[in-house]
Amino acid sequence: MKDFIAGLPKCELHLHIEGTLEPELKFALAERNGLALPYASVEEMRDAYSFDDLPSFLKVYYEGMQVLRTEPDFYDLAMAYLRKAAEQNVRYAEIFFDPQAHTSRGVPFDVVIRGLRRALIDADRQLGVRAQLIMCFLRDFQAEYAMATLLESLPYKEWIVGIGLDSDEKGNPPAKFAAVYERARQEGYLLTMHCDVDQDNSIEHIRQAIEEIGVDRVDHGVNILEDQRLVDLVLARGIGLTCCPISNGYVTDSMKAEGIRKLMELGVRVTINSDDPAYFAGYVAENLAALQDELQLTREELAQLERNAFEITWLPRHLKDAYL
Ligand code: ADE
Ligand code: ZN
Repeated sequence: MKDFIAGLPKCELHLHIEGTLEPELKFALAERNGLALPYASVEEMRDAYSFDDLPSFLKVYYEGMQVLRTEPDFYDLAMAYLRKAAEQNVRYAEIFFDPQAHTSRGVPFDVVIRGLRRALIDADRQLGVRAQLIMCFLRDFQAEYAMATLLESLPYKEWIVGIGLDSDEKGNPPAKFAAVYERARQEGYLLTMHCDVDQDNSIEHIRQAIEEIGVDRVDHGVNILEDQRLVDLVLARGIGLTCCPISNGYVTDSMKAEGIRKLMELGVRVTINSDDPAYFAGYVAENLAALQDELQLTREELAQLERNAFEITWLPRHLKDAYL
């Protein structure tokens, strides 16, 4: 089964590029930028990765990305992920980036996106991995800052396929960003957002995302299972869910494998992704393997998960069909 998973053509739709920053690269970038890190070694840094919920993870995640300063830093970050993706037979990826996590500490938007974009072009040519960028807003910042970031992105619109919403969900419902999403839609961006697993108001947040905002996808979203009306809505609209089993195991009490199985049985377009693989110790192949281990998925079921992913990509129909 391990060989089958390794060989399966894959598609990754829920991947934070800043969450792919491995300790080795963190040390290399810190040295290049003349920065000191509070860890003596890669091992010591990895040992400090202990989280049991979303906020405790986010603290380590934002601290870690402070070493990203220059255009080549963002290029190297994205190239490292895309090399790993190629090794795992990921053929196509839609990659989140968090511009505000960088602009808020003085790194220009232009620096971030140019580095990422250059890596995507090189990976397509050199590695045969195609990828597009999704710009995420940080939901624990004010909606006005998200709107300003959206406006700042417009000269680079051709390089960004859609928008997302991430960071700390507590007290930051989808409706807070209704105007930002409306403007993004007018600008031609496709729409997704995190509805993280087992949040205080998961059901209400998913309802707002789908009914009020009109998202094209939901990131995570496993909690729709608690409300038949949401399941019916997702099925009727063909909305895909980007699930992340290993990540779930870090920030909640389990991988939510049974929930993922149930979603598959209901015919929901559920997909398997790695979220923040440098922190959650698993890229997409390891996520598929962990889920397979728990659920004894058949080859056909594993292949269906990847077909779901290619089907809900934000590629034009003819390019989707080339993968299916
Ligand atoms: N930012 C990076 N990873 C995230 C996650 N899993 N949930 C919310 N925000 C994030
Ligand atoms: Zn995520």
